[in-house]
Amino acid sequence: MNKKTFYITTPIYYPSDKLHIGHSYTTVAADAMARFKRLTGYEVYFLTGTDEHGQKMERRAVEAGKEPQVFVDEIVAWIQKLWEILDISYDDFIRTTEMRHKDSVQKIFAKFYEQGDIYKSKYEGWYCTPCEAFWTERQLEETCCPDCRRPVEMVAEESYFFKMSKYADRLMEYIENHPEFIQPVSRKNEMINNFLKPGLEDLCVSRTTFRWGIPVPFDEKHVIYVWLDALSNYITALGYLSEDDHKVHTYWPADVQLIGKEIVRFHTIYWPIFLMALGLELPKKVFGHGWLLLDEGKMSKSKGNVIDPEVLVDRYGSDAIRYFLLREIPFGADGHFSEDALIQRLNFDLANDLGNLLNRTLAMLQKYYGGTAPASGTGEPLDDELKNMAFDLPAKMEQLMDELLFSNALTELWKFIGRANKYIDEAAPWALAKAGRQDRLDAVMYNLLESIRIISVLLQPFMPQTPEKIWAQLGIIDMPELHTWESILEFGKFPSGAATSPGAVLFPRLELVGEDRVPVRQATKKDKPQPEREVKPKEAGNMAETEGLISIDEFARIDLRVASIIEAERIEGADKLLQLKVSLGNEERQVVAGIAKHYAPEGLVGKSVIFVANLKPVKLRGILSEGMLLAASDTEGNLVLTTTETLVAPGSKVK
Ligand code: ME8
Ligand code: MG
Repeated sequence: MNKKTFYITTPIYYPSDKLHIGHSYTTVAADAMARFKRLTGYEVYFLTGTDEHGQKMERRAVEAGKEPQVFVDEIVAWIQKLWEILDISYDDFIRTTEMRHKDSVQKIFAKFYEQGDIYKSKYEGWYCTPCEAFWTERQLEETCCPDCRRPVEMVAEESYFFKMSKYADRLMEYIENHPEFIQPVSRKNEMINNFLKPGLEDLCVSRTTFRWGIPVPFDEKHVIYVWLDALSNYITALGYLSEDDHKVHTYWPADVQLIGKEIVRFHTIYWPIFLMALGLELPKKVFGHGWLLLDEGKMSKSKGNVIDPEVLVDRYGSDAIRYFLLREIPFGADGHFSEDALIQRLNFDLANDLGNLLNRTLAMLQKYYGGTAPASGTGEPLDDELKNMAFDLPAKMEQLMDELLFSNALTELWKFIGRANKYIDEAAPWALAKAGRQDRLDAVMYNLLESIRIISVLLQPFMPQTPEKIWAQLGIIDMPELHTWESILEFGKFPSGAATSPGAVLFPRLELVGEDRVPVRQATKKDKPQPEREVKPKEAGNMAETEGLISIDEFARIDLRVASIIEAERIEGADKLLQLKVSLGNEERQVVAGIAKHYAPEGLVGKSVIFVANLKPVKLRGILSEGMLLAASDTEGNLVLTTTETLVAPGSKVK
């Protein structure tokens, strides 16, 4: 049977080393959608890339004193790295300077010319170079570009023109008959009223006053207008008009083209008309999302590193950033970005709701079952609400995702997380344990494990890294059949006997401290994986009560880890202290250690040591210390760091 296909695109980005977190919005959304479709069984083609030609790029290269190609190559490499750190799972990255694209665009231009859609004339009018857009006198707003409000330039040169007017009626009819084509509806109305109804003017599609573009194949003095060049990427990437165009047949028309609202006009007027002229179908949906704004207005990289995607990912991790972008802002609307709002989401949704559900469940499982997942036990009516919600959830989320309602889809998922947390309080496992109701305790713990598994599967499209961490703690990381969409359509697939193990806190609660507003871990008792209420372990016996001794549960509260030292330096004015950076595998910690008299900093890097990972952070000599290294102290007062007998991966639990 042929697989269902799904073709999704983002705009191709102008190469700029000033990309900010707002830019990543379109790409993160497209990625979540692509991953969701893959999860639900589609054969997905997810395209992104870079839009490298045009007058603006030529000018930037000149300013940088570089050849345009060299100039763009450097930035494109950086953009690709940025997508990598944001876990963007594109299937193809097209650059408009690639041969496969240039060849195809020249053929498209020639085809238009041959069929009489393009004619030569003279352009005299206004041009906005930042937007690479032509404007008529009437469209300007106080002599500025109506889109970006920057000054326009007068252009007078010989140009080729595309007969937009020839297709205007057909486009209008198409838009009216396909209400889902331009989304949201407000943007559709704007296009009809502001551009189509007043009448379309023919579009200038070549330039002669600069060189950085694709030459018109039959008139090399001209380069092809950068928007005709750029828009074509959505089909040139599929091999349109090339020897191997099988992808055009497989994937075109695109299912969803995601763009920001400022480029809706190019994508819902010029683009469909070019497609009509080529005899190709129009994309099924073009969605113009809103902007991410700062409180002070529009984002630009000059506003500092709070919006630098690399800095943000470094501070908060890519999953938290992705979650924020997708959850905080309804997809069609503008939204505000701030680090405070991000931390709120992180602390409430990720640390409290999701993190606590996992921690509470696994800590109780540790306590009552030594970590081994029980059988499904004896059900009670209380379970039905949880199970019914779990049953309805996948279809509900799928429907919302099909409408690109990312935030609503996540809200549904979080309702279920909330339900599962409430289930703990209602079912009160500690009371069941106390009353010795083993069968019922089994059921409650089993239902919680299965609910967390379902949540982790549905989280994958939005937060690609977190589910694996959850699976490792649930003891199901090596069971890919339990990570699939099919596996959550029925409640009860969680394997009894799985060996769960509480691991590092998924999302520590953070707060911004000091003038520099540095995010640090909040030290609260809730960070520690333990149930809200103290319960005596089943087989506690007398030992735990014996003075001076601790129970295994008390010991288990200390999160001991293998840590690898990655940096070490002396602290000025403190002859006993060293400042270290250690890696715990998936996170790094800064620690101040009193070992300067016993170890030279140079000798420490690369060493693996035993580390207390859930110690309350403190400041020593003004330096934040988030944990402690363990060292043995002999009778002479010498300190010897504890290491492992053989090499163990950083982050491994010591127990
Ligand atoms: O327009 N909030 O590229 P681009 C949300 N090359 N989205 C934002 C944003 C913000 N503050 N700032 C930018 C181009 N974006 C053309 C496209 S397609 C054939 C050619 C989004 O680099 C913007 O809306 O200016 C767009 O979707 C994407 O970043 C790339 O913008
Ligand atoms: Mg732009």
